[in-house]
Amino acid sequence: MKTVTIKSLQNLKQEGQRFAVLTAYDASFATVLDQAGVHVVLVGDSLGMVIQGHDTTLPVTMDDMIYHAACVSQACHHALVMVDMPFMSYMNIDQAMTNAARLMQEGGAQIVKLEGGKVQLPVVKALTDQGIPVCAHLGLQPQSVHKMGGYRVQGRNQQAADAMMNDAVQLQQAGADILLLECVPAKLAASITAKLSIPVIGIGAGAQTDAQVLVLQDVLGITPDKPPSFSHNFMSSSGSIQQAVKAYIDAVTSGQFPGAEHSFE
Ligand code: KIV
Repeated sequence: MKTVTIKSLQNLKQEGQRFAVLTAYDASFATVLDQAGVHVVLVGDSLGMVIQGHDTTLPVTMDDMIYHAACVSQACHHALVMVDMPFMSYMNIDQAMTNAARLMQEGGAQIVKLEGGKVQLPVVKALTDQGIPVCAHLGLQPQSVHKMGGYRVQGRNQQAADAMMNDAVQLQQAGADILLLECVPAKLAASITAKLSIPVIGIGAGAQTDAQVLVLQDVLGITPDKPPSFSHNFMSSSGSIQQAVKAYIDAVTSGQFPGAEHSFE
């Protein structure tokens, strides 16, 4: 199995091949994902809800992210390790630089992810100029859940769609290496993916993005509450966790997942 790099993900985009991303927060599951051939393992701040039992991602701290990132990165020998910058850890360039460096040095992150559009352009430029790879995150931004008024699909009207497209283009120009779109109408996600040269990962963003991400617990059918409509339980038709993860990878790379029932208009 080859080691995944940002360059190899860019090559996949150019070749029109999809790639698979899953979350993990500990070494056991990260090992399963890495051995199954998941391309990117995301240590998401969704751990605040999935692992810590909070209602939102807001209580997650830098120390939490470093702890879980270090557990995951030790177990990943092939997959690229992406780590979320938690709420309020990138409010200005100095703070973002210090915290991204900690995620890389102490947590083993190979790319950091941060939420936000235009407002993040100076931070994205500063980080990437210093050689820190960045995945930008548009659409539903869970760290802004109170401002957004809940976990809602974003970019449904023309003005919001145009603003998201504009943000995506500017984030790429600022140096972002990857873009993640969460809960975005499928048509808009497809247009953004076609417009950008960097890989676009989708979640609840239709079938036309370059890659898909899901929360592992949703894939395994062990989400305590009702799972999101854009997710799918791959465990129910598999005999083991390893098989479920492989089924997810196959479904994503072959274009079978997500279907129209996992997408928004
Ligand atoms: O925190 C997370 O796990 C995420 C994904 C759900 C995209 O950002």
